[in-house]
Amino acid sequence: MPPALSIKGLSKRYGDGTLALEDLDLEIPAGSFFGLLGPNGAGKTTLIGAVCNLIRVTGGEISVFGQPGTGMAARRMIGIAEQEPNLDKFLTVYETLLYHGGYYGMRGAEAAERAEQMIDAFDLRAKRDVEAPKLSGGMRRRLLLARALLHRPRLVILDEPTAGVDLELRHELWRYIRGLHEQGTTILLTTHYLEEAEALCDEIALISRGRIVARDTAEGLKRSHGVDTLEEVYLRTVAGGRIAMDQLEEVE
Ligand SMILES: Nc1ncnc2c1ncn2[C@@H]1O[C@H](COP(=O)(O)OP(=O)(O)O)[C@@H](O)[C@H]1O
Ligand SMILES: [Mg+2]
Repeated sequence: MPPALSIKGLSKRYGDGTLALEDLDLEIPAGSFFGLLGPNGAGKTTLIGAVCNLIRVTGGEISVFGQPGTGMAARRMIGIAEQEPNLDKFLTVYETLLYHGGYYGMRGAEAAERAEQMIDAFDLRAKRDVEAPKLSGGMRRRLLLARALLHRPRLVILDEPTAGVDLELRHELWRYIRGLHEQGTTILLTTHYLEEAEALCDEIALISRGRIVARDTAEGLKRSHGVDTLEEVYLRTVAGGRIAMDQLEEVE
C-alpha cells in the first residue's frame, strides 16, 4: 500500500521572504497515528496548508495514498480541521455539515443523512439549527472536527485541535480521534503539547525552522538522545536559538 502521505523536497517561502519550509521530506505510512511536534512558528500549519493545497508551495512534491497532492482524488481523501476555526458565520450547524458534503461530491440525501449522524456523534443535536457564531468555543471545535470527518476521509489532519480547549473536551477529542484511528484512519496531528504527542502518537516527527530534525517513536527518540523524557528530547532538538534565527532572517 502506498504511504498515506509522501512529501519530497517541500519548500515554502512567503511573499515577505519568510522561509517557512526548507527542502522538507516526510513520509507517513498508511494507518499510522503521526504527531508533528514543534514550537510556534516551526512551520506546522504551513506544511498542512501545502498538503491540503491551501497555499501555493515554492517547490516540492506531495502525494496522498499515491495520488498527486494537487488533484481532486487527493483532496477527497483528506479531512482537515484547521488551527483557526474557519466556520461560515451565516450557516447553522446542520447547513455547515450538509454543504461540506456537497462540496466533497456527496449526493444530497447521503450528505443530509451523514450530517445528522455527525450531529449526534459530536453531541450537537441541541444546536442543530444555530449559526456558528452562537456556539461556545468547545462546540465550535466539535463542529470543526465533525465537518472534517463528514466525507469519511482516509487521512485526517488535525492542526492543534486541543489548543485552548478545556480538559474535559480535550479528553473527549482524544477518545474520538483514538477511535477513528482504531478503525483504520490515518491521523496526522500537530501539537506543541509534548504529553499529547506521547499519549496519542505511534510516531513523532520534530519540526524546527521548517525542517524535520528527528523522527521516531517516543521511546526511540528518548533512547537515541539518552534521556528519560520527551521534553528533554524537545529541548535538545527544536527549542532555543529563536532570537538568533530572527537576526539571521534580517541579515538575509
Ligand atoms: N501568510 C504568511 N505570510 C508570511 N509569513 C508567514 C505566513 N504564515 C506563516 N508565516 C511564517 O511562517 C513560519 C511558519 O509559520 P507556521 O507554519 O504558522 O508555524 P506553526 O504552525 O508551526 O506555528 C513563521 O515564521 C510564520 O511567521
Ligand atoms: Mg500552526
